Parts: sequence; structure tokens; C-alpha cells
Amino acid sequence: MGFRRWSYLVFLSCAALTRSVQIPIQVPTPPPNFKSTMPDIWDFNATPSLNSTSHFIFDTVGSLAQQWTNTRYRNGHTVVPGTVPVGTLLYHGTDQPEVPTEPDWIATDPDHSYVFCRTSSASGNSGCWHLTLVVTRPLRVLYFDGSSAAKMQGGPMDSQDITVWGQVKPEWTWNERKRINDLCEWGRKFGLDGFMRMEVDFEIMLCDFANGVEVVSHLNLDPGKDAHPGDPEPELLSSLFLSPTYVLQYRSIEAGRWHNTYPGETRVKLDLSRLISFYDTNLFPSLVFARFGQERWKHRLQELNTVDLKTFQARLLEILKQSDHAGSGVDWSTLIHVVVNRYAERLEILHHLLNTTSTAQHAKRAQGHLRSMVVQHILYTSMPSSESTNYSWAAPVYEDCATTHTRYISSAPSLSVRMSKSESLILHSIQEVSKEICRVVVGMWAGGVEL
Ligand SMILES: *[C@@H]1O[C@H](CO)[C@@H](O)[C@H](O)[C@H]1NC(C)=O
Ligand SMILES: *[C@@H]1O[C@H](CO)[C@@H](O)[C@H](O)[C@H]1NC(C)=O
Ligand SMILES: *[C@@H]1O[C@H](CO)[C@@H](O)[C@H](O)[C@H]1NC(C)=O
Repeated sequence: MGFRRWSYLVFLSCAALTRSVQIPIQVPTPPPNFKSTMPDIWDFNATPSLNSTSHFIFDTVGSLAQQWTNTRYRNGHTVVPGTVPVGTLLYHGTDQPEVPTEPDWIATDPDHSYVFCRTSSASGNSGCWHLTLVVTRPLRVLYFDGSSAAKMQGGPMDSQDITVWGQVKPEWTWNERKRINDLCEWGRKFGLDGFMRMEVDFEIMLCDFANGVEVVSHLNLDPGKDAHPGDPEPELLSSLFLSPTYVLQYRSIEAGRWHNTYPGETRVKLDLSRLISFYDTNLFPSLVFARFGQERWKHRLQELNTVDLKTFQARLLEILKQSDHAGSGVDWSTLIHVVVNRYAERLEILHHLLNTTSTAQHAKRAQGHLRSMVVQHILYTSMPSSESTNYSWAAPVYEDCATTHTRYISSAPSLSVRMSKSESLILHSIQEVSKEICRVVVGMWAGGVEL
């Protein structure tokens, strides 16, 4: 289920929006004598700019703290502050009987931290240690999206490298001790307690185990027999997969899967009104060139130039100094998912219907599907006259469809004054994605009506 939803979204955001020339669902070409009097904005032939990133912003913001989308697109582009509420339990597995006195890693799920519950000669080979902490005041964290805890080159760690070192440092990919120490040192002046990242599941790099958290328990556990075998021989793999050790390792992946789809990992409350997206082309124009012609999978931040780096650092300073949750109050995640729910699956079915259209009956079915997708916007007067040769009669349908979810938010002065820059960015992405969906769907429907 989760997987299917995701694939719809990819179709929606990648196929329909970036490569408009390749859309399989093109609006029919208007007749040669077509002269539009409708405002340019509701012109069915006006495709989004080739370098538009609205669909990427829409999808990344809608995917924050979700396991699957951030596994599929592992090079994170978003940095956003969040808080961990009082009473939240957090876990740390170790071979040490003492509570860490320096920054260390904690998991949101014990299935994940247990993987690190290890026996060592330091503890006399007598079991492993598993620490449970509880949050005693809201913890302030900074979240890096993507697979930001996957120790790998190629992009997943770009955003945290740039945050802490001002540049991408592939040679420090595995230097996790330096990374956590430097991040905590840097974050201290903003009162940051930690950093949230994701690998098989979510984790927090916690800066101080004696501040904002209390020990619930620190248990000396049974690590199991062959607790941490080396790399098994390939021929042994099938039997090992059935061994208790591998069942336990699988438990951590399974726990990550609980957060696969919206709303994802909810134990950290993200403040979208203070989000920074590297897909923001106004803030980071140097990345437009770097991304040009690249698959989304390959988008990286290493080409960020000095000017844009300065912009990022200034903006980061700004959002970290702002007070929590000071924006307009609009629930952006929910709004994005309202649009996703409304269209994602239906667009996928449309794609399928169009690929099988070969008879008049097939065409009727596709037209019925199109109409049902936008029927709430088809006015009683929305019909072509007998001599109609253009789609101007359908422009009001297009406009209503495209603006219905955002019209109030974008025009209410009381909201505009409170809306942060980050919120304006998100709003714009929802407007652009809605517009492109409605351009294509209403445009095709209108073409079918005129036939
Ligand atoms: C898109 O970006 C590329 C690379 O910066 C640039 O050459 C091209 O002119 C841009 N195209 C549009 C339509 O903005
Ligand atoms: C379209 O139909 C063809 C032939 O039935 C099939 O091979 C192809 O995979 C389909 N494409 C999509 C995108 O569904
Ligand atoms: C579109 O068609 C309508 C109705 O036939 C007509 O009144 C209008 O002038 C046409 N617009 C253009 C730009 O041709």
C-alpha cells in the first residue's frame, strides 16, 4: 500500500511536471487559428518552466520524516527545526554500563538501538547495555531529510556537511565522532539539543545526556548467542536469515517501516514555518545549473557556490533564532496530503486508461474518469458553443480546480502578514503542483467534450 502510493506521487511529480514534453497525457494541440483572450495564467498550453522545482518542494515537504520516500530519494534537500515533546522515550544500545558523557546516538525505536547493544571485554563480556531515556522538557533538534544517517558518499550527507563544515566532505563520511562533536559544538549557540537523521530507522544525535532527558532504565541485557557475527559466507546466508540474530536485525528494519508513509515518524514535531529547502531557486540559484538535466536521484548540493553558502548560513541563523511555531498556523503537511490523496491514485489510473485506449469505448471510459476527477469544478455554464474551436470556455474550470485549495490562504491579508518565507515557498509549491494537475486533467477533459 505504502509503496503504491509513493509510486503514484513519483509519477505525478516527475512524469507530469518536470518533463512536460514527455507527458503521456498531453493536452490536444489547439487549432491554428487559436488566439487566446484568456489571461495567460489559465492558458492550457502554458507548461511549467523547465527549471521549476515546485514539484520537488511539494514532494520533499510532503515526505518529511517518512522512511520510504527518504530511502528512495536519499539525497536530502531540507533542513528543518523540530521539537521532541516531554514524555517521549528514546533508546541507546551500548557495551558500556555508564550513561554517555559525550554526544552520542539514540534511536526512536528500541528495535533499532538494540542492534548496538553489544558485549565487549570492557564490560567483562557479561551481557550488553540498553538505556531508555525520557524527555523532560521539549528538546530542540534540527532534522536533515533524506537518508542522512546512511554513511555513504554520493549525496545523503551533503546537507549536514554543509551545515557544519560549509562544504561537502566525502573524506569524513565515516568520521561520525567528529561529525557529532562538531554539530553539537556548532548547535550549542542556538540551544540545539540534537540532530535528527534517518537510516534503517530514525535516530537523534543527542548532544548532552544530562540535559533535557532522564534515565528511565539502563538494563544489562542478554545479547543472545552469536550476537554480532562477522560477514557470513554466502552459502551460509540462507540459514543465517532464519537465525535469531537475523530476526532481531530485521526487527530494526521493520520498525523503520512503521514510518514508511505519511505521517511518518511523529515523535519529532517539525516546524515547517522555519524550513529551508535547497530546492528554493531564489535562495540557491547555483544549484539550478548543477541539477540541469540530472535525474532527481542524482540531485546534490556539492555545487553550492560561495554566495549561496553565505545565504544558507544567514537563513539558518535566522530560523534558529526565531521562536518555535510562529507562522500562519496553516497545517501544510495536511494540505499537501489533501492534494496527494485527491489526485495521486486517480492520475495513476488515468495513465493506465490512456495507455489502453484504442476503441471508442475505451475513450469514453477515459473521458468519464477525467470528468469525475474535476466534476466539483465544472460549472453549469461550462460548455462549448456549437461553433467553439478553442477551450476558453473551460478556463473557469481550470482556474477553480487549480486554486481551490490555496485561494483563501494566498489572499487573506491576516494570513499573509504572519506567513513566513518558508511557508510562502510551500504555498507556492502547492499552487504550482495543483495548477499543473488541473491544466492537464481539465485540458484533456475539455478536449474530450469538444470532440
Ligand atoms: C534552466 O537552467 C539551465 C541551467 O542553468 C539554463 O541554461 C536554462 O536556460 C534554464 N531554462 C529555463 C527555461 O529557465
Ligand atoms: C502501455 O502498454 C504497453 C502495451 O500493452 C505496455 O508494454 C507498457 O508497459 C504500458 N506502459 C505503461 C506506462 O503502462
Ligand atoms: C473561443 O471560442 C469562443 C466561442 O466560440 C469565442 O467567442 C471566442 O472569441 C474564441 N476565442 C478565441 C481566442 O478564439
